Amino acid sequence: MSVYLTDCETMTEMKPVTEATAVKAPVLPDAQTVQEVKHWTDSLFSFKVSRPASLRFRSGEFVMIGLLGDNGKPLLRAYSIASPSWDEELEFYSIKVQDGPLTSKLQHIKPGDQIILRPKPVGTLVHDALLPGKRLWFFATGTGFAPFASLLREPQTYEDYDEVIITHTCREVAELEYGRQLIESIRQDEMLAELIGEGFADKIRYYPTTTREESPKMGRITNLLKDGTVFADLGIEGGIQPDTDRAMVCGSLAFNLDIKAILEEFGLREGANSEPKEFVIEKAFVG
Ligand SMILES: Cc1cc2nc3c(=O)[nH]c(=O)nc-3n(C[C@H](O)[C@H](O)[C@H](O)COP(=O)(O)OP(=O)(O)OC[C@H]3O[C@@H](n4cnc5c(N)ncnc54)[C@H](O)[C@@H]3O)c2cc1C
Ligand SMILES: NC(=O)c1ccc[n+]([C@@H]2O[C@H](COP(=O)([O-])OP(=O)(O)OC[C@H]3O[C@@H](n4cnc5c(N)ncnc54)[C@H](OP(=O)(O)O)[C@@H]3O)[C@@H](O)[C@H]2O)c1
Repeated sequence: MSVYLTDCETMTEMKPVTEATAVKAPVLPDAQTVQEVKHWTDSLFSFKVSRPASLRFRSGEFVMIGLLGDNGKPLLRAYSIASPSWDEELEFYSIKVQDGPLTSKLQHIKPGDQIILRPKPVGTLVHDALLPGKRLWFFATGTGFAPFASLLREPQTYEDYDEVIITHTCREVAELEYGRQLIESIRQDEMLAELIGEGFADKIRYYPTTTREESPKMGRITNLLKDGTVFADLGIEGGIQPDTDRAMVCGSLAFNLDIKAILEEFGLREGANSEPKEFVIEKAFVG
């Protein structure tokens, strides 16, 4: 009768593993573990990963994240951190580009998987880059909502401003859902109310618009600003004022340029970390 060895028995018969004989398991540098993944549409998903103990960031900043590429080298892309600076987990809100080097793979991550996260946060969509004001505008298109998902849960946003207006423009209604649910959850979050102050969420004014599917408010936000619709809808007299209004902008390059021109026409100036002014801009993607 022949005897077959189980894997375990086979192992015990092997020579001791030395550095020379060990099979090198791939080690992911700066690895973090995926904790939750949610798919919103065919082209959008969000996910949470563990937060490295050493990572400190300002709400609104971005980091480089990614996976190991086929060549064994890290394949990294810039991603806004969608969670606030005080949160234990890190949340991201992502596009799925079907032939995109990173997101064609990243869209398949599952809880327990690892991603690479370089713990060096940077960015201009931070409170430090704005002069004090009374009313803060967040202008987002598509995944440009991500940094504002962070800033909308940041206590300083409500300490510094009386009113926070978030506009989000997408092609279709389903693409607004991540933002809509996030704002609804902020309004109902008792822990946040305790942290930030009772009634803080009453300062939020949400202005979603779509451009290619019917919804209660249609049109590019740029056109709605230019023809005064936004101000009429929100009951704001005199439009955007350099004395009181501050803005943060995150969308495609074309969107950012168009909003920049509008804000400058209202008399606002672009600021930076080193020189705070009335508005700041960051690209939601390159290309
Ligand atoms: C400062 C900064 C912050 C960013 N934050 C985010 C974020 O929070 N979430 C996110 O999904 N992406 C973000 N991006 C874009 C991100 O870095 C990658 O481009 C994206 O993950 C796609 O990677 P990829 O390798 O699959 O394709 P890439 O080769 O990087 O992109 C291929 C093409 O897909 C399109 N594209 C890429 N990203 C987007 C997007 N977000 N929305 C719409 N079209 C896009 C562009 O036309 C681009 O040329 C950010 C980019 C910058 C510069
Ligand atoms: N999201 C999709 O369903 C989809 C599908 C196929 C391909 N793609 C590709 O994916 C990339 C990104 O798509 P995306 O929809 O996330 O981003 P996007 O093309 O930047 O559009 C996002 C939203 O911003 C609006 N917008 C774009 N440029 C603007 C500007 N200059 N001023 C004011 N508003 C502006 C768009 O309105 P308009 O609709 O008026 O442009 C849309 O509502 C593009 O290269 C696109 O070709 C996207």
